[in-house]
Amino acid sequence: MRREKILVTGGLGYIGSHTVVELINLGYQPIIIDNLNNSYRSVLDRIASITNQKPEFVEGDVTNAADIDALFKTHTDIRAVIHFAAFKAVGESVQQPLKYYRNNVAGLITLLECMAKAGVKNIVFSSSCTVYGDTDLSPVHEDIPIARAASPYGNTKIICEDMLRDESLTGAVRVVSLRYFNPVGAHESALIGELPLGVPNNLIPYITQTAAGIREQLTIYGDNYPTPDGTCIRDYIHVVDLAKAHVKALERFNDSDMADFEVFNLGTGNGNSVLEVVQCFERVNGLKLNYRFGERRAGDVVQIWADTRKAEDILGWKAELGLEDMMRSAWNWQRSL
Ligand code: WQD
Repeated sequence: MRREKILVTGGLGYIGSHTVVELINLGYQPIIIDNLNNSYRSVLDRIASITNQKPEFVEGDVTNAADIDALFKTHTDIRAVIHFAAFKAVGESVQQPLKYYRNNVAGLITLLECMAKAGVKNIVFSSSCTVYGDTDLSPVHEDIPIARAASPYGNTKIICEDMLRDESLTGAVRVVSLRYFNPVGAHESALIGELPLGVPNNLIPYITQTAAGIREQLTIYGDNYPTPDGTCIRDYIHVVDLAKAHVKALERFNDSDMADFEVFNLGTGNGNSVLEVVQCFERVNGLKLNYRFGERRAGDVVQIWADTRKAEDILGWKAELGLEDMMRSAWNWQRSL
């Protein structure tokens, strides 16, 4: 499917921009649609600096059918859609669930209806390990039963996967749903990376902003969990590895044995505790981080990491970068800001 046009919704965002770079590197022609709600137009120039190619960008919103229809009218040869555009702040989703259901769920409905009108059948969907909820079954396999998600954000991902599965049963679409574990780090150029708006919810941006003196102190949420060092365990995956998996997912559509709906975990298969991440960050970057142990955060899962065999066996993809690469690139990115 190389040199084919790929529509990338939310392509100026954190994971989207890294995926656009990998698509260009492999000769695809990404077309970005982004509403700039949680991203910056300047990311286009940075992608151009990295790849020597400025991808086509359309400012628009996946919840607006007119925007999508117009794009499919202009580009009648789009071979697949990679759908990143969604809200993703767990805490905010608890405060404003309807904002999340309208944007994440209704946005996908609009996109699918427009794809059907345009005859575009292939979609790669940005899902999340959060669909597994508070499981004690790590390493989690894609086929474990999906419990109730821990937040409205997570529930939008479960609903979207169910919608995609149902729509695929009609033959209208073929779906690869990618369940991300914890995406962290930045491109080695330090030209693109995570740009959280306001106070970061996630661990790594909070660490780097504390190291940069933007935040006074990192609070580690809970040190009395039933884990080796008492802090929560997650499967952190380098955003560049994650981006490369999306290109592998596109190639899956060429396989004659592909089912119409497939799900893959995207993680490293390794779990690291919060304290291990902090200590790795300090060691790799030669600095001391100001942190304290505080109360547990509501909604946190004790531990979760991926069973990665399915993506390895079927997509031929495996994460290559380790925690040290993630911590080094995250700090380089922070210092570039
Ligand atoms: C990781 C660990 C915290 C901040 C969520 C979503 C997931 C994805 C990534 C969107 C936890 C601890 C954090 C801090 C801390 N989001 N922590 N102090 O909650 O695993 O996953 O974000 O796609 O879908 O569920 O990520 O980075 O918020 O937390 O101790 O200041 O770091 O308690 O154990 P999480 P996180």
